[in-house]
Amino acid sequence: MTDLSIEKGLIPLPQIMEQREGFFVLNSSATVSPSPVTGYLLAAIAKQTGLDLGTGENPEIQLVIDPDLDVPHQEGYVLEVAPVSIIIRGKSESGLFHGIQTLRKLPGPEKGGDSIKIPACFIRDWPVYSFRGMHLDCCRHFMDLDFIKRYIDLIALYNMNVFHWHLTEDQGWRIEIKKYPKLTGKGAYRGSGENRYGGYYTQDEIREVIAYARDRYIEVIPEIDIPGHATAALAAYPEYSCTGGPFEVSTHWGIHTTNFCPGKEETFTFLQGILDEVMALFPSRYIHIGADEVKKDMWKKCPACQKRIRESGLKDEFELQGYFVNRMANYIIGKNRIPVGWNEILESSIDPSIIVQFWYPADDARIFQTLVGNGNKLIASYVSHCYFDLPAEKVDLRKVYSLKPVPEEHKMVMKDRVLGIEGEMWTEYAPQDTIDSKVFPRILALSEVQWTDEGKRDFDSFRSRVETHLKFLDTMGVNYGPII
Ligand code: ACM
Ligand code: ZN
Repeated sequence: MTDLSIEKGLIPLPQIMEQREGFFVLNSSATVSPSPVTGYLLAAIAKQTGLDLGTGENPEIQLVIDPDLDVPHQEGYVLEVAPVSIIIRGKSESGLFHGIQTLRKLPGPEKGGDSIKIPACFIRDWPVYSFRGMHLDCCRHFMDLDFIKRYIDLIALYNMNVFHWHLTEDQGWRIEIKKYPKLTGKGAYRGSGENRYGGYYTQDEIREVIAYARDRYIEVIPEIDIPGHATAALAAYPEYSCTGGPFEVSTHWGIHTTNFCPGKEETFTFLQGILDEVMALFPSRYIHIGADEVKKDMWKKCPACQKRIRESGLKDEFELQGYFVNRMANYIIGKNRIPVGWNEILESSIDPSIIVQFWYPADDARIFQTLVGNGNKLIASYVSHCYFDLPAEKVDLRKVYSLKPVPEEHKMVMKDRVLGIEGEMWTEYAPQDTIDSKVFPRILALSEVQWTDEGKRDFDSFRSRVETHLKFLDTMGVNYGPII
């Protein structure tokens, strides 16, 4: 007999919930009211339970958008399961969508049998953070389109709303740019002969992913990582490096020294041409320009870079990095988008309107202090808590669950500057078929830190819910890794 206790399986934990007497019996005669997410719900139920529901008069399952709903966040919802009906009210379309995800995770809705018992309950729920993301590096290993859609489906299931798509690297350029065809013609492939490896996404494929994500209320944020992590781009267009090359698309991991040359005006024209196509493709509010791990070796020896340093009154190569970041960021701001960069952008003076994605360990007080002083907003992705490419022994469930986006002493001043939290999935050592085992189960802990109020979170409760939840992951075909 299935245990229909709702506390046992729900991840992330809803803010307010109450189990009630009885259950709703779902079978194929149930109907759903029309709404922007009805098609999604019908398909999800069919996939999850095998039941083919339709829409109809006097539907038992009602999906309602109510802007006046009494929840303190636009993405909030109220889910009421009673013996005769299921009603989900969303404060917005995305709120309704999150209510559907909770319904999907209640005990009961899983394959098997022609009628399914869903426990009666009342849930009033909303997220604490507005930016709840997962990242995927599709450069070190290439991920196919169906896999990316499945990844988006899974992050939606855990109430996330951002997919951060890492598209350019030393080891491969993965986004078609029509103005510069060699970026993918040459830059998307590394090695030769039998060892040739690569692939890229056409602009049509990227539009398909963006539309798929939009239907799941997920914003796709592209990352074009500059001025470092650029070997693949510079293998294709070496004229925008300091030395003129030649370079090959890299076949090894680690921090590289090949950067774009900010001494040359043509470099900015080239990169703006790329960003024009990126911004035409991606409707996201945010555009990520990376700017992490920039070695200064080439800039130190480059006459054009040194001339730029002198003529722009910069102190050194760190300030040259700041000059580069500010120029690219201003270009993006001029197109009414918001630039995002990794925390290395704080190593020189940068515009406070650039969002900082912080990946250094959470206890790196020095850089955090700079962020606080400079006024930028924060996305917390500390390597110590959020890097799912690291072994589970190092970043375990308890570690992820213990994440506090801001050190205690900065909580007050950062109160309105924390956008949210994102988990990272770098793929040097993670081809596509291993991603599930690294992301799961840690994404479960991440989702609860992103969604549930800190005061309501409890690791032991979470840990016991994970145990129950594993059965659900089995039915969803997730190949989770070690539960530690
Ligand atoms: C990073 O891990 N280099 C952002
Ligand atoms: Zn240079």
